[in-house]
Amino acid sequence: MTTLYDEAARRRKELMQQMEPNSIALLCAAPLATRSNDTEYLYRQSSDFYYLSGFVEHDAVLALIPGRAQGEVVLFCQEKDKTRELWTGVLMGPEKAIKKLKIDDAFPIGDIDDILPGLLEGRERVYYSMGKDPRFDQRVMDWVKIVRGKARQGAQPPGEFLVLDHLLNEMRLLKSAREIKLMEKAGAISAQAHKRAMAICEPGRKEYELEAEIVHEFMRSGSRAPAYNNIVAAGKNACILHYIENDSTIKDGDLVLIDAGCEYEYYAADITRTFPANGKFSKEQKALYEICLDAQLQAIAAVKPGASWDAPHNATVEVITEGLVALGLLKGDVKTLIKSEAYKDFYMHRAGHWLGIDVHDVGDYKIDGKWRLMEPGMVTTIEPGIYVAPDNTSVDKKWRGIGIRIEDDVLVTRTGHRVISEGAPKTVEEIERFMAQSRACAVA
Ligand code: GLY
Ligand code: MN
Ligand code: MN
Repeated sequence: MTTLYDEAARRRKELMQQMEPNSIALLCAAPLATRSNDTEYLYRQSSDFYYLSGFVEHDAVLALIPGRAQGEVVLFCQEKDKTRELWTGVLMGPEKAIKKLKIDDAFPIGDIDDILPGLLEGRERVYYSMGKDPRFDQRVMDWVKIVRGKARQGAQPPGEFLVLDHLLNEMRLLKSAREIKLMEKAGAISAQAHKRAMAICEPGRKEYELEAEIVHEFMRSGSRAPAYNNIVAAGKNACILHYIENDSTIKDGDLVLIDAGCEYEYYAADITRTFPANGKFSKEQKALYEICLDAQLQAIAAVKPGASWDAPHNATVEVITEGLVALGLLKGDVKTLIKSEAYKDFYMHRAGHWLGIDVHDVGDYKIDGKWRLMEPGMVTTIEPGIYVAPDNTSVDKKWRGIGIRIEDDVLVTRTGHRVISEGAPKTVEEIERFMAQSRACAVA
């Protein structure tokens, strides 16, 4: 099977083929982020850096220099250092990096100011992700300044700066067979985690107790961390789209919305399930849930090659608006309500986003001002929601405070699509049956 490093090498080649003549690309590793005083957050490599190298250490810079006779791929990284490694862990070091990452050359990061200006010399264009990290912006400018300073000795500084993102984003948007396998694994682990949270849920528990089940399942399955701040929102908390406090007590009669996905070998899953805390949907909860589920299924059905990126979203808007009119939460003609976006009081986000190394992955949604068409290898989430604000006095009291979202991850295939996040109960019947069985097991 293709390894991460083989794949990264192939990507570098592909990227270099697309770069303008006589150019250089510079990528900076993610900085280590301080949490407080001298403790740091768990380190995660920048997605682009990982994508092109597989290298997971901080304090590193990658230079791609197509056509350079002495080597096209140069890495700057931390040197081996026994004392430092004793405190903060084993470093790969330049020597090993050359072999392992299949690159042409590697130097200590401490030497970068002496070496990098020489790599810029004579290159007309510099690709990098400008404006993302002010410190790196400054360093690039400093290196250019060094080359300018040598202009009288004949050194030619680069004159053009280009964003690297567009070329890279388009590559990242189309997933390889290896990437799809990793995303399927992330999906399977996350679905299992949802099942565990659902199984132990009962009124009286804290939301974070369910989160603990989820994180436990992630880590015991090989995921080091969630792909994003996971949401466990009971009752009206589900109407706060990015609720992450997860510290309320779950009450009898609440719906519980869990939006949780793991990161597995740098690939994200993003799954949402909504279920009744006591194992049984109320009449109102069930009515809204069925609309949301129907919207999700119809949107998933709209995922196929050649379909507009907007098609699944439009499907959700139609189903939700029709459903809300049928239940009396919206009043009027469905077409007019869609046109006036009246549904946005209840469904205020879009139906999905690209998924990959980032949970909200890169890739344009529009090309030349028009929604792009889906292609095999793209992965999108499909996640309609219905949220009735607790203070929405335009609807009957019985609906207020109900928040529902159902989210799955969908791969565009050559013939249509494949849901890669299956495994957690989703229909009303499946959820009620699963929760009843879990309770029976717990009592037995
Ligand atoms: N979990 C973030 C999202 O669903 O977009
Ligand atoms: Mn989500
Ligand atoms: Mn999502």
